[in-house]
Amino acid sequence: MRTFLVLALLAMISGSHTLPTVVQWEEDPEQTPGFFEGDIVLRPKSRNCMSNPSQHWPDGIVYYKFSEGIDDVRKDFIRNAMNIVEEGSCVHFKEADDDQPYFVNITGNPGGCYSTVGFVEDISILNLHKHDLNTGCYRTGKIIHELLHTLGFYHMQSTYDRDDYIRIAYENVKPDFVHDFAKYSKDFVEDFGEKYDYGSIMHYSPHAFSANGAETIVPLQEIREGLMGQREALSTVDLIKLNKMYKCPELQVKD
Ligand SMILES: *[C@@H]1O[C@H](CO)[C@@H](O)[C@H](O)[C@H]1NC(C)=O
Repeated sequence: MRTFLVLALLAMISGSHTLPTVVQWEEDPEQTPGFFEGDIVLRPKSRNCMSNPSQHWPDGIVYYKFSEGIDDVRKDFIRNAMNIVEEGSCVHFKEADDDQPYFVNITGNPGGCYSTVGFVEDISILNLHKHDLNTGCYRTGKIIHELLHTLGFYHMQSTYDRDDYIRIAYENVKPDFVHDFAKYSKDFVEDFGEKYDYGSIMHYSPHAFSANGAETIVPLQEIREGLMGQREALSTVDLIKLNKMYKCPELQVKD
């Protein structure tokens, strides 16, 4: 049974939370070497938008266009993931018409799954390598993860206080991928008052970018096996943050 818990947001977000605008690649580093933080591609012109308050999509509407070569079955699969994000928040995904000046170009280029982080008044990217359905980039949770990048989320383990919750085992990280474990300062990322969330759909898995098969992210608390790095569903905290980020009037969190 589903319980809908409607929480009034008592506190609105004070001030702006500013997020560097980049493109995030998902944690298949082998597929996307050389990119910032695994599934991130820096957009050089907005790399320094640290004090830019407008990195959310205006009115919570994410405009998108499917680029050529994405078949109808895949479009439906992507739309289904969009629907899940919409159901848990007040954001909307709308197919852009020809006059729309800014939108996400949803592409199917080889080389991984990645997305621009946050809103840019331009054409941004969400790429999903055309894997078979329910594999690789074409897993609903993976697409939701990328959509959250599009909406302005960074990886969970990038947050400023992550060292209180996890240890990055650099000794096990592939040398070329050390930068994938970047940490952002408090000025750069906003936690909306929510505590560290091991179960976020935005958290890397314990073996991300491992050089030797050993853990690269070691939780400092006892957590359920499989929690960290899950790509099954938005966590409650993910939903709360998304709702706060987009100032949704009512927060609907499903059990
Ligand atoms: C979208 O991406 C595709 C594939 O990379 C590219 O061919 C196309 O020109 C892009 N569309 C726009 C509007 O940028």
